[in-house]
Amino acid sequence: NAMLQWQRTGFHFQPQKNWMNDPNGPVYYKGWYHLFYQYNPDGAIWGNKIAWGHAVSRDLIHWRHLPLAMVPDRWYDTNGVWTGSATTLPDGRLAMLYTGSTNASVQVQCLAVPADDADPLLTSWTKYEGNPVLYPPPGIGPKDFRDPTTAWFDPSDGTWRIVIGSKDDAEGDHGGIAVVYRTKDFVHFELLPGRLHRVAGTGMWECIDFYPVATRGKASGNGVDMSDAFGKNGAVVGDVVHVMKASMDDDRHDYYALGRYDAAANAWTPLDAEKDVGIGLRYDWGKFYASKTFYDPAKRRRVLWGWVGETDSERADVSKGWASLQGIPRTVLLDTKTGSNLLQWPVEEVETLRTNSTDLSGITIDYGSAFPLNLRRATQLDIEAEFELDRRAIMSLNEADVGYNCSTSGGAAARGALGPFGLLVLADKHLHEQTAVYFYVAKGLDGSLTTHFCQDESRSSSANDIVKRVVGSAVPVLEDETTLSLRVLVDHSIVESFAQGGRSTATSRVYPTEAIYANAGVFLFNNATAARVTAKKLVVHEMDSSYNHNYMVTDI
Ligand code: FRU
Repeated sequence: NAMLQWQRTGFHFQPQKNWMNDPNGPVYYKGWYHLFYQYNPDGAIWGNKIAWGHAVSRDLIHWRHLPLAMVPDRWYDTNGVWTGSATTLPDGRLAMLYTGSTNASVQVQCLAVPADDADPLLTSWTKYEGNPVLYPPPGIGPKDFRDPTTAWFDPSDGTWRIVIGSKDDAEGDHGGIAVVYRTKDFVHFELLPGRLHRVAGTGMWECIDFYPVATRGKASGNGVDMSDAFGKNGAVVGDVVHVMKASMDDDRHDYYALGRYDAAANAWTPLDAEKDVGIGLRYDWGKFYASKTFYDPAKRRRVLWGWVGETDSERADVSKGWASLQGIPRTVLLDTKTGSNLLQWPVEEVETLRTNSTDLSGITIDYGSAFPLNLRRATQLDIEAEFELDRRAIMSLNEADVGYNCSTSGGAAARGALGPFGLLVLADKHLHEQTAVYFYVAKGLDGSLTTHFCQDESRSSSANDIVKRVVGSAVPVLEDETTLSLRVLVDHSIVESFAQGGRSTATSRVYPTEAIYANAGVFLFNNATAARVTAKKLVVHEMDSSYNHNYMVTDI
């Protein structure tokens, strides 16, 4: 459907057509980044013949599509080659573990290896002849056992370990669980006793991810490979904490928590029980699911991929012939300033797409106003902004909006003393359509400020077959931080926003009908009633397309 063609992105990863869901087995191999993904070759909706799509890149931004890596062609995966992860072995070879949905729809784990280790493009995969290598263990349902993690090496006994997600009702409380297996050869597995972790009430844990982040010093600026986080005796080294992330099938969000991993006890414990997996922090407050990290040895960083689905109707997806994007890959670090959350940031390579840059730093926006930015094109943008609220106005207030909550407080149109203010993107000139990315500051009687970071989709499209929400959360702002920062990636039908250096993020799919092509614009807005806002920094970069470059595989 050519009418919906504008919804395709210029620099986000998407297949040429059909349905995509989870990122699978991301890995760096012989100079190439590989992305595999859940793909339905038969159409634009999920189906029971899911295969592994495959693409390669030199820089995580320019992608070349390759033929399907694996298709459902065995009894043990005939109902779908489901999500899995890659492990790089010490000699450089790869082991890929994935979930097969069998001819009886039982979820089993399977092994595949490259047919030719010398092929940097990894175009051909061999499924192990003895598959499946793992069946659901006693006490776990045949349809609740999926998505093996990348394996790590435990030096205490010289075995590899993996985590698999599930749920159990052992305590009658709908618990989400993470179980661990060990293996020497990726063929024979032994279930470790107990649970790595369990959280009551959270239901099925899909796509678990488990990895260390460094807590201090220079190392905290780099990623950590899981197998490098142990001392010789097998104990976890002191200056990392382990992130556990699970995708909650019940509410379709990716939750994470920071904790301590005790390998010998096969236990992970959250640093803060109130922010446990599934009840606390999310990677992203918008549409972002089934994500997975990998360690990139080339740039010594940990990179996060996340599936960004559609929020329009299935009918619309079928008519346009495709569904889903992947978010721009994000580097992940511990926020050593707060110690209590991660920082997510678009990989630096995305900045190579910046072309025309407009610097509007220093604009002050009076309260109750919106200010159109003078841009040539506004459908593909990378926006950097830093806002400062009028100090005196903050001081003169006793209390403001203490109970504020992004999703229930009326969105960008509801005015308070110190918010909302920020950006309206993919906006037409009459502001019929707009996606608002904003801060809203609340002040307690004790003088404390709480900053909320929100994204309002409710006016993003005049079409009515779309789920439109206001999403977001409170974002930490430290005493010595005088500005509130935003980074917003706009790409036709996706808005990906990062607040305060990546402490909080929100991704929205949006489907404007008027604010497209040359009719799309950006506004600065300030709907606060009591304070002026200065955009101390406001730089808008137009973004090149990564797909128009006819990128070819050469010089291998
Ligand atoms: C998550 C998920 C996984 C499963 C895959 C099937 O979106 O449901 O648990 O392996 O998708 O496509």
